[in-house]
Amino acid sequence: MTAEMAKDQVRIFDTTLRDGEQSPGASMTLEEKLQVAEILDDMGVDIIEAGFPIASNGDFESVREIARRAKRAVIAGLARAIHADIDRCGEAVRHAERGRIHTFVSTSPIHLKYQMNKTEEQVLEIITDTVTRSRNLIDDVEWSAMDATRTPLDYLCRCVEAAIKAGATTINLPDTVGYATPDEYRQMFVDIRNRVPDADKAVFSVHCHNDLGLAVANSLAGVAGGARQIECTVNGLGERAGNAALEEIVMAIRTRGDVLPYVCNVEPKYLMRASKLVSAVSNFPVQYNKAIVGKNAFAHESGIHQDGMLKNAETYEIMRPEDVGVKATSLVMGKHSGRHAFKDKLKELGYELGDNALQDAFRRFKDLADRKKHVYDEDIEALVEDEIATAGEGAKVIALTVIAGTGGPQKAILTMDIDGRHETREATGDGPVDATFKAIKAIVPHDARLSLYQVHAVTEGTDAQAEVSVRLEANGRVSTGKGADTDTLVASARAYVAALNKLSLRQQALNPGALKAV
Ligand code: KIV
Ligand code: ZN
Repeated sequence: MTAEMAKDQVRIFDTTLRDGEQSPGASMTLEEKLQVAEILDDMGVDIIEAGFPIASNGDFESVREIARRAKRAVIAGLARAIHADIDRCGEAVRHAERGRIHTFVSTSPIHLKYQMNKTEEQVLEIITDTVTRSRNLIDDVEWSAMDATRTPLDYLCRCVEAAIKAGATTINLPDTVGYATPDEYRQMFVDIRNRVPDADKAVFSVHCHNDLGLAVANSLAGVAGGARQIECTVNGLGERAGNAALEEIVMAIRTRGDVLPYVCNVEPKYLMRASKLVSAVSNFPVQYNKAIVGKNAFAHESGIHQDGMLKNAETYEIMRPEDVGVKATSLVMGKHSGRHAFKDKLKELGYELGDNALQDAFRRFKDLADRKKHVYDEDIEALVEDEIATAGEGAKVIALTVIAGTGGPQKAILTMDIDGRHETREATGDGPVDATFKAIKAIVPHDARLSLYQVHAVTEGTDAQAEVSVRLEANGRVSTGKGADTDTLVASARAYVAALNKLSLRQQALNPGALKAV
């Protein structure tokens, strides 16, 4: 690679598993984090921020396990400017072929006064001390100036200088509160890189939050100002309004190479799969009109657009859907499709199921094809995701009858399988969903609180499958479950039970003494 090309290479640093996971309710299990890390690694993300090791034993475990399994990516862990954090982080990432400690401290006057209660001079000493400690553990050290965009430039220059002198190899200047505009953000990088001695010894990095909807624009502006690392998340998941969306950054760079002369290592074909996976495990649905990965991102409804598309796709499309892993929706699967075709279709959609799961999924597909005129790829995906989520150990929904309508109260009669034993209960409620959830509670008594109930239609039409997300909370633990069915109430019951199984309430229900402890 020539020096010129290397200069224009932009590193993609994904923080879905750290900043993304910090979104309220987006917490993921170890297994889910491993799946996300695997696809990020496969797609060519340069650095994966796998978590915040000091936050909990679970976080430590997942960073360590991701570090062990990573094939190509650098694995980073986050650490506050505290020795215990840095040591714990070093311990987790040292298992990676290439590990990184990412340590940060606030630099803005408002953070220093209200959050840190420290003077500027004290923070400068902290930077030198903590970056030095990190460098004693590992060669690859990133230092971040939290709230950099609200930090006076002169002081920010002194902080960056101290971090580079202590050995930081990457300097990240986050727009922590999503306050900057593109011009300001670009200029900040130009000024800092011009003024700080030895600035060329470090790679500069952007990290933008989306409070004003400017995260991607600001990130690209920072790169124009000399940054060569972009911190971002799949689907823009992240604190408050989220972080810059990885898929938007990658496709902007690829599509507008004429004015954005950079390259990155991410293979765009993985973008849609990564988006779906992150949406499923975080339970944050992707808005239909979301750039690149939204359901409508490549859909054309108006007659004029459709006419243009039929003549030449470039009339209304600046990217090809297949480039980001979006396949044209197909209608080929139906009630006459056999097991073989179904298995092939699953393979095409990226699923490989074991024999039992395949048999169950096929039975459900046939059942769906009997009830639904067209079975789209999205229907099959929803069905398989539901199968995966509800397979294995745990309580299962066997049958549900609901009496609903204006008469009230609405009534649900539910049968569930609990360890091979069928139990049936009736419950009334304020609406059919409430009655269904009360029937579940009658069979599996628990104290969990329902904190989210969301329904969306997988495809169009009144026979569309409903995909329901349920989030339950008990004693500070959060779990989410999904269910899909053409019957919204059956999907709701499945989602609730999947979340309940994750909370392990079933075992405790069998041992009512333990139940209240959940
Ligand atoms: O937004 C922010 O400032 C951060 C830092 C921890 C890098 O996420
Ligand atoms: Zn952040």
